[in-house]
Amino acid sequence: MHAALPVLVPALFAATLALDNGLMRTPPMGWLAWERYRCDIDCDNDPKNCISENLFRDMADRLSEDGWRELGYVYVNIDDCWSSKQRDKQGRLQADPKRFPRGIKDLARYMHDRGLKLGIYGDMGTYTCGGYPGTPLDKIQIDAQTFAEWEVDMFKYDGCYSNATEQEQGYPLMSKALNATGRPIGYSCSWPAYQGGLPPKVNYTQLGEICNLWRNYDDIQDSWNSVLNIIDWFFGNQDALASAAGPGRWNDPDMLVIGDFGLSMEQSRTQMALWAIMAAPLFMSNDLRTISSGARNILQNKMIISINQDPMGIQGRRILKEKSGIDVYWRPLSKNASALVFFSRRDDMPYRYRTSLSKLNYTTGSYKIFDVFTNKAAALKDSTEFVVPVNPSGVVMWYVSAPAAPSRRHYKRARFQGSADDGENGDPLVVL
Ligand code: GLA
Repeated sequence: MHAALPVLVPALFAATLALDNGLMRTPPMGWLAWERYRCDIDCDNDPKNCISENLFRDMADRLSEDGWRELGYVYVNIDDCWSSKQRDKQGRLQADPKRFPRGIKDLARYMHDRGLKLGIYGDMGTYTCGGYPGTPLDKIQIDAQTFAEWEVDMFKYDGCYSNATEQEQGYPLMSKALNATGRPIGYSCSWPAYQGGLPPKVNYTQLGEICNLWRNYDDIQDSWNSVLNIIDWFFGNQDALASAAGPGRWNDPDMLVIGDFGLSMEQSRTQMALWAIMAAPLFMSNDLRTISSGARNILQNKMIISINQDPMGIQGRRILKEKSGIDVYWRPLSKNASALVFFSRRDDMPYRYRTSLSKLNYTTGSYKIFDVFTNKAAALKDSTEFVVPVNPSGVVMWYVSAPAAPSRRHYKRARFQGSADDGENGDPLVVL
């Protein structure tokens, strides 16, 4: 070692404390089996939907052929119930040979050949939540090695059947073991979800150092009730949570259930908009073979995806909770831009919410706003009062460009940016 180096070493260590696998600098995107397919292992009676290599291949085909991959949806993640009930003779986890006859390594290759990535699931306890073999402390090394050997790209480490002490040891140990394999493997930790999700019990600084993302709270279900409950928990606790997020480390409010059975189109837009505000991982759990064009359009909305993927990685916040039942959410974005979401908790009719950018803490200036769902654009001065009509359980979402000095040219250009589907009734988006 060079004589001058010892002085530098402590500083270097401090700088590399954060999980240093270089992965997930923006929230990961892809598809995850659990919410939609659960532990359906009945391939005899339900061959299309059971947890098998065919299901993951089908989804990979859809991701690569239907425009998802190009938008960033690249992970195809196996969840629980993939493995055999027994480890092999060498003590390694093995896939159920009936449902994964070609094995996980072959499935990983299938993904890589298509520019996709494969994720897999394990659990800190003796068993997974679904009753399959777990990865307790003494199995961490061997399982991390097995996943790396299979060329897996992401690992979700669940916490069923483990206690707080084991979790304290196991989650950091797995992080080290994955790094030690030399293969970059994104690491999703369910640890906070098993400890109530909040400080002081949960140490988000430490989580950011060892995990790329973490589940903080309950499992999502295919219902509006569940989505709203998650929204309320995350934004209700935003002071404790938001600062934990950043490039390479994300809070995970769980999967997108858009395209399933439980959400209306309005509610689907709300989930997409607020997951983007939260800088949340975007893992869809749906059937990409039969998804409706309405759901697909929401999930493939480029503007919302780019808001979700903003390189600064700052998690947004709820800035207002009005008595009228309107909430306003805000996220700062790069290039001095921002995103605004107006959400209605009402159940009567579209509510005409009246406000101005200055009331929403915007500084003096002229802004260009872009409605991400209607593709309409307009210019707006901070002081101008406007009205947004917000549908029950729905949202209006805006991308707000940095303020510009007001000039005639600027206004003209903004007005001409009206969308292709501008024609319906010619009503201005913003009632100025
Ligand atoms: C837990 C997790 C879910 C899913 C199931 C699998 O409930 O939180 O996301 O992985 O286990 O059994």
